[in-house]
Amino acid sequence: MVLWGAVLGALLAAIVVCLCLPGLLRQRKPQEPPLDKGPVPLLGHAMAFRKNAFEFLKGMWTKHGDVFTVQLGGQYFTFIMDPLSFGPIIKESQKKLDFVKYSQQLVLKVFGYQSVEGDIQMIHLASTKYLMGAGLEVLNTAMLDSLSLVMLGPKGWSPDASCWHEDGLFHFCYNILFKAGYLSLFGYTKDKEQDLLRAEEIFVKFRRFDLLFPRFVYNLLGPREWLEVAQLQHLFHKTLSVKHSLERDSMSTWLCYMLRRLREQGIAPAMQDKFIFMMLWASQGNTGPTSFWALLFLMKHPEAMQAVREEAIQVLGEARLEPKKFFSFKFSALKHTPVLDSVMEETLRLKAAPTLFRVVESDYTLKMASGQEYLLRRGDKVALFPYLSVHMDPEIHPEPTTFKYDRFLNSNGSRKVDFYKAGKKIHHYIMPWGSGVSICPGRFFALSEIKLFVLLMVTYFDLVLVDPDIPVPPCDPDRWGFGISQPSYEVCFRYRLKPLE
Ligand code: HEM
Ligand SMILES: *[C@@H]1O[C@H](CO)[C@@H](O)[C@H](O)[C@H]1NC(C)=O
Repeated sequence: MVLWGAVLGALLAAIVVCLCLPGLLRQRKPQEPPLDKGPVPLLGHAMAFRKNAFEFLKGMWTKHGDVFTVQLGGQYFTFIMDPLSFGPIIKESQKKLDFVKYSQQLVLKVFGYQSVEGDIQMIHLASTKYLMGAGLEVLNTAMLDSLSLVMLGPKGWSPDASCWHEDGLFHFCYNILFKAGYLSLFGYTKDKEQDLLRAEEIFVKFRRFDLLFPRFVYNLLGPREWLEVAQLQHLFHKTLSVKHSLERDSMSTWLCYMLRRLREQGIAPAMQDKFIFMMLWASQGNTGPTSFWALLFLMKHPEAMQAVREEAIQVLGEARLEPKKFFSFKFSALKHTPVLDSVMEETLRLKAAPTLFRVVESDYTLKMASGQEYLLRRGDKVALFPYLSVHMDPEIHPEPTTFKYDRFLNSNGSRKVDFYKAGKKIHHYIMPWGSGVSICPGRFFALSEIKLFVLLMVTYFDLVLVDPDIPVPPCDPDRWGFGISQPSYEVCFRYRLKPLE
């Protein structure tokens, strides 16, 4: 037995070595970017990257310059840190730099969804139809109703709401945006009280999944946590299932359209359930955290809060809620809020940190703005991390770590779109939504929801921090690269509906 074990072990080791030899032996060729294989064979820099991608990439950038290839867990990633050289990468054809394959692997692992050809185009088409333009106006109305329901309850304003309440700001924002966003997109039944309870239950599970998510993607969960993730996935597939969804009468046209297309393609119902889970994740994971940062910055910067409130009064008028009433809101106002728009862009600049990936489909010549050319190998990945290379660049955004609510305003009050690096106008001066083929198709709806929520909060409510001196929390280092960052601690605040005069 013991002998067989040893033989088997040796055999396995030999297989592993053979499989990984090409990776281990890889050497930088002429014209290739600097290659950094990292301290550990096979793992490469994976541990440092997972622990804190921001600090890791900062170090590599200093060491190697604007382009470098690092080994992460047996795969090679070439990071490009010069934003003036982003254009060709973002615009490159799918045949050369592919996004689809990368995302297919990820969604299969995370959501169990086996993607079929044309999926991404289908999602983008549905989103252009129903999350922008005229479709967005319908959804805005649904979102206002949902926010009213979630924030005031099914019966509207009650005297209790005018007392001071205390809550964690992150939990408060995430909870409200999640429930309202979920109900608006995934639909109601006839029983609103029951809908609210169900939304709350799903939120609790969602947050659990959300907390495990970064380490799940990186394969770092312990056995118990693996089991928990599997249970959560199963539970989401069940509660969100198409079977239940059809019982709801007000599912958004966005989701209806996509589910119809999947049905027409003959996708099995169980797979459709997984698709719905994926859409829940994409649509609800970032809006709550963004709202948290926006409100926190406003509370920490009274001059910004005052500017936003003045603008809100201008476009919406002074608002007070009467007993048993719901919020009223002029939707055209959403189009006339340059100050709030600047606050949103500044919030996203400081807190949105996605990574963009493409797979190199055939050997590829990367042309940098400087004229320098690099060869990239087929099968490697190209990656951008604009948070570090754009959002935090002091040349593009002076004092990059400081919140300046009017950073994206011209002196005449219009939206500022002119930003420069090395004397050249820079097109991608913030990239919270990704870019090119994979740009977030929900970005217009996302901004509308968050702005709607923030405007309701600043017009109808009084808000104060429990400890006005509490610093803005640092970002949780686990989540660099996963979209909107989350705070490393909770911030307590008090709120009440403004009393009637
Ligand atoms: C502040 C809020 C949001 C942020 C910062 C955000 C950001 C992003 C980013 C960075 C990506 C990936 C881009 C890439 O891989 O290159 C993405 C994808 C996506 N987002 Fe958003 N998003 C937000 C809200 C929403 C909302 C509200 C919806 C829908 C209602 C949505 C729907 C999607 C979908 C469906 C995808 C996948 C698209 C694809 O597979 O090509 N997002 N988002
Ligand atoms: C405001 O200023 C910007 C740049 O300073 C300019 O491009 C824009 O045309 C101005 N808008 C108006 C309405 O004057």
